[in-house]
Parts: sequence; C-alpha cells; structure tokens
Amino acid sequence: MAVNRFLKSGYVRAKRRLDDLSPAEAQRAKADVERVVARLPELAAFEDRAPESAARYADAHGVYVNSVSKANHAASLEFCVLVDLLVRLRSPRRVVDLGSGFTSYMLRSWAAETPDDPPEVWSVDDHAGWLEKTRGWLGEKGLTDKHLLTWDDFVGDNPGNFDLVLHDMGSMETRARTLDAVLDLSAPGGLVVLDDVHKPDFRRFAIERLEARGQPFFSLKAWTRDSLTRYCYLVINQ
Ligand SMILES: C[S@@+](CC[C@H](N)C(=O)[O-])C[C@H]1O[C@@H](n2cnc3c(N)ncnc32)[C@H](O)[C@@H]1O
Repeated sequence: MAVNRFLKSGYVRAKRRLDDLSPAEAQRAKADVERVVARLPELAAFEDRAPESAARYADAHGVYVNSVSKANHAASLEFCVLVDLLVRLRSPRRVVDLGSGFTSYMLRSWAAETPDDPPEVWSVDDHAGWLEKTRGWLGEKGLTDKHLLTWDDFVGDNPGNFDLVLHDMGSMETRARTLDAVLDLSAPGGLVVLDDVHKPDFRRFAIERLEARGQPFFSLKAWTRDSLTRYCYLVINQ
C-alpha cells in the first residue's frame, strides 16, 4: 500500500473495532510468543523477568505520566518492560529511541549503569517542543542529553547500524511515512520495535512493507498489550 493510500484510508479507521477482533491477528498473537522465542532464545526469560523490570520503572513512570506527559501519549509500562528486557537480555551497543520521552529516560538510566563503557543511546523526536520536554526530564533525573535531536537533524546526519530501534514517534501518519527509513536504521541482526500496531490501518501498512522487504516480524501482543489496547510488533533485520 502506498503511503498516500494509507493516509486516505479513513474507511479502515471506521472498521477499527471489527479489526481489533480480527481472528487472524489473535491467532498471530498466540503463535508468535513461541515463534519469537525460537528465533531469539534469550527471550525465554521474558515472563519470569517482567515483574522485576516493571518494578524498576513503575514509580518513575507514574510520575512521568502525571506530571510531564499523559498516559495515552507516553509509552506504556508494558512497552517499557519489553524495552528493558531487550536491552538487558541482548546488551545492544547502539540504541535509538524514536519518539522521545520516558523511554529516553529509561534507556539512559540503563546506559548509566556501565559508566566505563556505556552503550550509545540516541533519542529523536519529530516535535522540537517534546524533545525539549524530554531534555528537561533527563536533566531532572541527572542524565545526559547527548545524542538528543530532532528527526530532521538525525536523518540529515545519515545515522545507521543500530542494534535496537524503537519506533514510537509522532502521529500514525508520521510513523507510516518514516517506516522504511526507520527499518533501514537497523544493523544486520538488529531489532526494530513498532509500537501502536493495535491501530489496524498502520498495522496493515507495516505488514505490507515488512513482507515486501522480507523481514520477519512477530506480534508481541501477549507481552505488551496495555489497558488502552496498545501493543507492538518486533522486527528482525535479517
Ligand atoms: C507515543 S509518543 C512517544 C512516547 C515516548 N516514547 C515515551 O516513552 O514517552 C509519540 C509522540 O507524541 C509526542 N508527545 C509526547 N507526549 C505528548 C503529550 N503529552 N501530548 C502530545 N504529544 C506528545 C512526541 O512528539 C512523540 O514523538
């Protein structure tokens, strides 16, 4: 589906409720936990370790959604648990957080745990105002604002080779428009997390692009579905 067709697909939005009950998507969610663990065996520890990750960020997340952003705009705690476990179980050296905010804080907290050899964390937003809010929050937490930049500046620098890419930036239209560029940011063998695939129009667009690119993807609905029905897909760059 071309981006323009995606942008005009209001009829899909009207079908959202029905699509959210899609048997195929429910089936994918059920099958994919096993599929993803077969592909990335380190994730077998996910369910045992999730409570420890949730406890690590629950208080700060509560403060963030009540004082800086809002629960429906910030990453869910479920999404943060996934990110925390991906970095702890896979030890990526270069991570980019597209859609700055709480995730920028948690990734930089994790990086600060190894001050002698910290992994590189980049945080990017299409909205300069929200980037500045992130800078303020990082400052309050005593964390570095290194590699914090707008999407335009970031792509202008021609970055790449990230071991982990989080795509949670801007409106769903922005996510669709930038999807190929975002997938291209990942290093061979790297992972890309696409948040908010509960939105059927974006999900369908993403599936079409991933299939066209031959990139394996997995529904992580079973692990990341939150109270607002949001969940994500995990993509492997092979
Ligand atoms: C889903 S949010 C990104 C959330 C981010 N990853 C986090 O952990 O908080 C997507 C976009 O919404 C914008 N945003 C963040 N908080 C917002 C708020 N409270 N109101 C409006 N827009 C917001 C930012 O520009 C961001 O790129």
